[in-house]
Amino acid sequence: RKTGCLAGKKVLITAGPTQEKIDPVRYFTNHSSGKMGYAIAEAAKAEGAEVVLVSGPTSLQVPNGVHVEKVISAQDMYEKAIEHFQKADIVIKAAAVADYRPSEVYTQKRKKQPGDWSIKMERTIDILKTMGENKGKQLLVGFAAESESVEEYAKKKLQSKNLDLIVANNITAEGAGFKGDTNIIMTITKDGEQKEYPILSKREAANCILQDIVSYMKRHGKL
Ligand code: PMT
Repeated sequence: RKTGCLAGKKVLITAGPTQEKIDPVRYFTNHSSGKMGYAIAEAAKAEGAEVVLVSGPTSLQVPNGVHVEKVISAQDMYEKAIEHFQKADIVIKAAAVADYRPSEVYTQKRKKQPGDWSIKMERTIDILKTMGENKGKQLLVGFAAESESVEEYAKKKLQSKNLDLIVANNITAEGAGFKGDTNIIMTITKDGEQKEYPILSKREAANCILQDIVSYMKRHGKL
């Protein structure tokens, strides 16, 4: 494969967790470090793409030449991602976006009180699903973080979110998923190509994902 095969392409990538505020002190989040999404951003840049990275809170360094938009909540991520969506040729959603947020955000620190505390949660917008419903020229790539029936659930997400390709990872497998430097992925395309990869560094996994995207685009005359 020649390098530079994404020259001239605009790639939008999301990475990292979101934080959903409870009060000025507390928030809900998840274990995403951003490593997978940042690795894809670096790999896409190395292939000559123009890269926009919409990133939740992480401690990672932004790869050279990548335009970053830092966000906190799922709502922020939605707004920034949609802003860059129209111009993108390829969208890759590696972020772990909260599905729920507290219905009410306390403006003052909530004081300790006797007894239990229940927090009512409401749904956030599904960014990827919204993009799938409004897809034009964009090639849409989602992730599926699963702990069981990985292939089955990934195929359901591929369909229901109107994606071209889905990257599935079993987040309970050793060496896969959140935080670490490695991942074990499977890619499934809309036209029925399926590939399982061994344990790889997140940077190598990023290359495999891009390679599968490029093959898909070539099959469909988009590259
Ligand atoms: O960041 P790391 O520590 O390197 O970990 C990598 C990872 C495990 C976070 C990554 O490999 C991964 O699996 N990312 C997707 C996590 C996730 O939220 O998966 P999901 O199956 O819940 O969501 C499916 C897809 O819908 C994802 O592409 C997600 O970005 C998207 N989504 C989900 C909810 C929502 N409100 N909006 C979305 O766009």
